[in-house]
Amino acid sequence: MSKVRIGIVGLGSISEMHIQGYLKNQDVQLFAVCDVNEARAKQTAEEFGATHYYTDYQEMLSNNEIDAVSICTWNNTHAEIAIAALNAGKNVLLEKPLCKTVEEALAIEEAVRNNPKQFLQIGYVRRFGTNTQVLKRFIDNGELGDIYFSKATCLRVLGNPGGWFADKERSGGGPLIDIGVHVIDLCWYLMGKPKVKSVSGNTYQKLGNRSNVEYKSFYQAADYDAKQNSVEDLANAIIRFENGASLMVDVSFSLHAKKEELRVSLYGDKGGAEIEPQLEIVSEKNNIILNSTPQIDHLTFDFAQGFQKEIDHFIDCVNGKGETIAPVEDGVEMMKILTGVYKSSEEKAEIHFDS
Ligand SMILES: NC(=O)c1ccc[n+]([C@@H]2O[C@H](COP(=O)([O-])OP(=O)(O)OC[C@H]3O[C@@H](n4cnc5c(N)ncnc54)[C@H](O)[C@@H]3O)[C@@H](O)[C@H]2O)c1
Repeated sequence: MSKVRIGIVGLGSISEMHIQGYLKNQDVQLFAVCDVNEARAKQTAEEFGATHYYTDYQEMLSNNEIDAVSICTWNNTHAEIAIAALNAGKNVLLEKPLCKTVEEALAIEEAVRNNPKQFLQIGYVRRFGTNTQVLKRFIDNGELGDIYFSKATCLRVLGNPGGWFADKERSGGGPLIDIGVHVIDLCWYLMGKPKVKSVSGNTYQKLGNRSNVEYKSFYQAADYDAKQNSVEDLANAIIRFENGASLMVDVSFSLHAKKEELRVSLYGDKGGAEIEPQLEIVSEKNNIILNSTPQIDHLTFDFAQGFQKEIDHFIDCVNGKGETIAPVEDGVEMMKILTGVYKSSEEKAEIHFDS
């Protein structure tokens, strides 16, 4: 079988994880890279052995030798580039969030429908964590029963990545759309992807990006710039689903909290589970409450391993070995939730969705 020829659009911070994943996959040739920043494109191509580099993604997409692309650009470009890539006959691995709005999400979904030979996988990397996959096996075997409540907390004390992330026009929002999307998706996926019924949320912009803080490092956009900041510092929400289940979430870029916190839990009528900070399954047997810790390699999400599994799965799907576990439809429901939280906060009211 010939190797899958890959092109990557957007060569900033996260592209390195995609590049490393592709380089370690023996079915792949890292063929082309593209960034509006020409020096970055040229340097990346040289460093990682891509034979072609581009500054215009349209030009890259017109190269018929490319089979599939990773899109690792600003959120406001996701829809445009993903649709162009599908229409150019490429399979697409698109970084999260799917896009900025529900309308864009529906347009991407339509492009997937119109190009049945190709598919799109969303970069929901946490679905590929060992802790998630092990827990999913327990859930699929009914060990948690009916999951009626989940809770996701992802709090950064200091973690506004600056640059485009802090520009609402380009990012679509702050911690909710950037990191909230990961933990909400994790709960939603494991809850069996229920349809959203209503959303009530609050966002706050009280602390700014805390760029004055010294001696504490954090994730930054490739073109870090602290001058601009039009996104929220903190968001919280309660999401109600049509099956009666609910999800509570709180996420921040900046907060006067004692420490960073990542906590994701699910509660069913037969058992419960914590996925983060580490996988633990709670059950009741013989009138005794049990906390069970699986003996597995990664009880907590391992970034490098998660990305490798995401890339390997994408390539397997390109090669016809199964269907993606993170299809475009899942991004549409997520965009309803995320934009619903922003709307609810603006209108100071609960937002309801038609069933
Ligand atoms: N899965 C994860 O855990 C994870 C983590 C971080 C970021 N991300 C996502 O990855 C994407 C990129 O984030 P990042 O942190 O790498 O940002 P970044 O700012 O470090 O890099 C983005 C790159 O895209 C380039 N770019 C922007 N528009 C372009 C266009 N039209 N054509 C070609 N190049 C273009 C920029 O020049 C820059 O080099 C975002 O959607 C973000 O949400 C995902």
